[in-house]
Amino acid sequence: MGKLPERLAGVADVDCDGIQALVTGSTSGIGRETALALGRLGADAVVVHGRDVAAGHAVVDELTATGTTATFVPADFADVAAVRDLAETVREETDRIDILFNNAGGLFREGRLTDIGIEYTFHVNHLGPYLLTATLLDHLREGARVVTTASGAHRGPSLDLERVQRVDDYSGFWAYSHSKLANVLFAAELARRLDAAGRAVTSNSVHPGAIPGSGFSRFLPGPIPQLVRTLEAVPGVTSVADGAAELLFAGVSPRTADISGRYFSEQQPTTPSEAARDTAAARRLWERSAELLDIDEPLARTDPPGGTE
Ligand SMILES: NC(=O)c1ccc[n+]([C@@H]2O[C@H](COP(=O)([O-])OP(=O)(O)OC[C@H]3O[C@@H](n4cnc5c(N)ncnc54)[C@H](OP(=O)(O)O)[C@@H]3O)[C@@H](O)[C@H]2O)c1
Repeated sequence: MGKLPERLAGVADVDCDGIQALVTGSTSGIGRETALALGRLGADAVVVHGRDVAAGHAVVDELTATGTTATFVPADFADVAAVRDLAETVREETDRIDILFNNAGGLFREGRLTDIGIEYTFHVNHLGPYLLTATLLDHLREGARVVTTASGAHRGPSLDLERVQRVDDYSGFWAYSHSKLANVLFAAELARRLDAAGRAVTSNSVHPGAIPGSGFSRFLPGPIPQLVRTLEAVPGVTSVADGAAELLFAGVSPRTADISGRYFSEQQPTTPSEAARDTAAARRLWERSAELLDIDEPLARTDPPGGTE
């Protein structure tokens, strides 16, 4: 057997009995390994999510074999109604959620707008998890953890909310980096608002490492996907199990139970980019995301604009 993420995260002896989790983007890659690890750790229920129905059912079968109740719920994160349906099904299938892994995402080469006029990468990687989290807030038990898969690629851009509704100057790498910046800002702002609302729920973001062996490489141009997959076998290269270990460290480890609002890399709270530490930008992103989705602002703040940041 290869490396197990729970061992790499130092959580192999954590008992997840009683835990109910949702892992978005668990049909492949880091999310799949995280879901399977939760099963081996004894989780009661894992909701598997993605779009690939065959892959989703295969993960459910593996989880069921470990004694975990598993359900696959397909949903395209570029589709607002599908994300709402996902949240509804999660409510029906679970009593509450103890760990929400916001992990689904990718780098998309072609620029396009979604049905509501949003650049696709920003919609899938940020607005999808924003809406899902907002819709499930009252289904998160006290003591729950929200873990959002960001990336070291968030370093570079500053928040640019003008550019998320057009694709005339589309760059897949910029859009990806910007959406990952949004993930770091979102996780930190969620932590602040949960705290202000008196909720005992933590929120952190994670850089899983640069992982050649995940499905992520399919998004890269030309022959690069084949080349990077051959790197998988090279000792020392970050594996999908290493990436899942980063998620498990933030989501399951007793060492992180009381940490909120941080960005983890290599199983350490780490300082993200300056743009990702901009609390005014995080607030703008939060408020604008609600406007773009045409929903009431979740966990709305009561202090006046321009108040203490
Ligand atoms: N691999 C890396 O080097 C790396 C580095 C930093 C961060 N990350 C982040 O890690 C996360 C997981 O990526 P991975 O490396 O494990 O890649 P992956 O194997 O391609 O997994 C991506 C997952 O996201 C789902 N997904 C993609 N687009 C979706 C959409 N429109 N709607 C719903 N689900 C969608 C996929 O499901 P379906 O295929 O079933 O649709 C799949 O389960 C992503 O957020 C990625 O940005 C990866």
